[in-house]
Amino acid sequence: MGPTLILIGFMGSGKTAAGKRVANDLGWEFYDTDLLIEQETGISIVEIFERGGESAFRKAEELVIFRLLDKVSSAPAGTVISLGGGAVSIERVYGRLLRESLVVLLDEDIDTAFSRAQNGKRPLADDREAFRLLYAQREDLYRAVAKIVVRTRGKSVSQVAEEIVGRMSKGKESG
Ligand code: S3P
Repeated sequence: MGPTLILIGFMGSGKTAAGKRVANDLGWEFYDTDLLIEQETGISIVEIFERGGESAFRKAEELVIFRLLDKVSSAPAGTVISLGGGAVSIERVYGRLLRESLVVLLDEDIDTAFSRAQNGKRPLADDREAFRLLYAQREDLYRAVAKIVVRTRGKSVSQVAEEIVGRMSKGKESG
C-alpha cells in the first residue's frame, strides 16, 4: 500500500497547487475533493450551496472523502489528496484525520488567502471579516489534526512542494 498525503488548510492556502506539484514530483496520484464533489453531483459548488445550503455541501463532501480514503488505502502507489477548507468541520472527517499519519497543514497569511479565494467559486469567501472569523473558528481544528505544519507565506508553489516532501521524509527518518 502506498502512503496517503492529505493537505488541509483554509481556502486560498494553495492546497491544490502544492498538491498537484508534490504528486507530479513524486509520481503519485492526485485528487482534489472539491472537484470530485462537482463531478459526482454534476453541478458546481456554488450551485450546491445555492440549492441545498452548506449542509448539503457537507453531506456530499463527507461521502466523497470517505469513499476516496477507502479507495486509496489499497492503492499500490502514493496518493496526494487536497481537502476543501471546511472538511475539518465535519465531525467524522475530523475524527478520521486525527488517525491519519500524513496530514499536512498549509498555513498561509489570511489576507493572501482572501485575495486568492476571490474567484467567484467560493461561497464562503464573499466577505473579508466573515472570512477571518471563519478562519479563527477553524484554526484549532486544523492544528489539532495536522502532523506537519508548513508556513507558506511568501513561498512559491515549488518551494512549498519541496518543503512538504522534505518534511515528510524527515518525519519518516525520525519516526
Ligand atoms: C470551503 C472551502 C472550499 C470548498 C467550499 C467550502 C470551506 O475549498 O470546499 O467552497 O468551507 O472552507 P478550498 O479550501 O479548496 O477553497
